[in-house]
Amino acid sequence: MCKMLEVISGDITALDVDAIVNAANERMLGGGGVDGAIHRAAGRRLYDACLAVPEVRPGVRCPTGHSRITPGFNLRARYVIHTVGPVWRGGAHREPALLASCYRSALELARHHHLRSIAFPAISCGVYGYPLEEAAAIAVRETRVTVSDFDRIVLVAFDADVHAVLLAEANATGSNDAHVPNHSNN
Ligand code: APR
Repeated sequence: MCKMLEVISGDITALDVDAIVNAANERMLGGGGVDGAIHRAAGRRLYDACLAVPEVRPGVRCPTGHSRITPGFNLRARYVIHTVGPVWRGGAHREPALLASCYRSALELARHHHLRSIAFPAISCGVYGYPLEEAAAIAVRETRVTVSDFDRIVLVAFDADVHAVLLAEANATGSNDAHVPNHSNN
């Protein structure tokens, strides 16, 4: 029972974990940001696997707040868990509940597939415009409650400001189970 929440900075596509989480959109066919980076690193087969995910309605393979799993193909990670964060529209459109649901549904899928390690990017904190401090509070809260179910849960920051905010949030709310390495990547 190791049980620690890690906050690191780096490129999520390089991580050697059972699953990396993708901040996708509802179509699940790629995009910019971390989504683009994951698709580039995983290769064309990831696009094909995403295309094969059934639509729940026209143009929607994964509704906002939900998650879907595919293999990782050329990635070191065995799986990609695609989740769709909310677009920030001021905070009164269920954004906090939807963002929490991204973390919960991704973790639920990981448990279902008996995965032991999982890494998350800062879902919704790029193009989707979610305020960083509020998103970090949700990320830390939702992952920390389930650390005992995994060997490793990693929150990955690509940018220095995201790293600083995640680190501050983890430290502010942490207990002995929190492990926050201060190095770059791993
Ligand atoms: N590793 C880790 N984090 C990364 C990486 C990477 N290689 N590349 C970008 N990020 C970070 C961004 O810096 C940001 O902090 O991921 C966070 C999420 O940003 P976005 O990728 O823009 O995701 P999001 O805000 O959820 O918007 C999703 O963007 O490209 C589209 O298809 C995607 O439409 C969807 C939307």
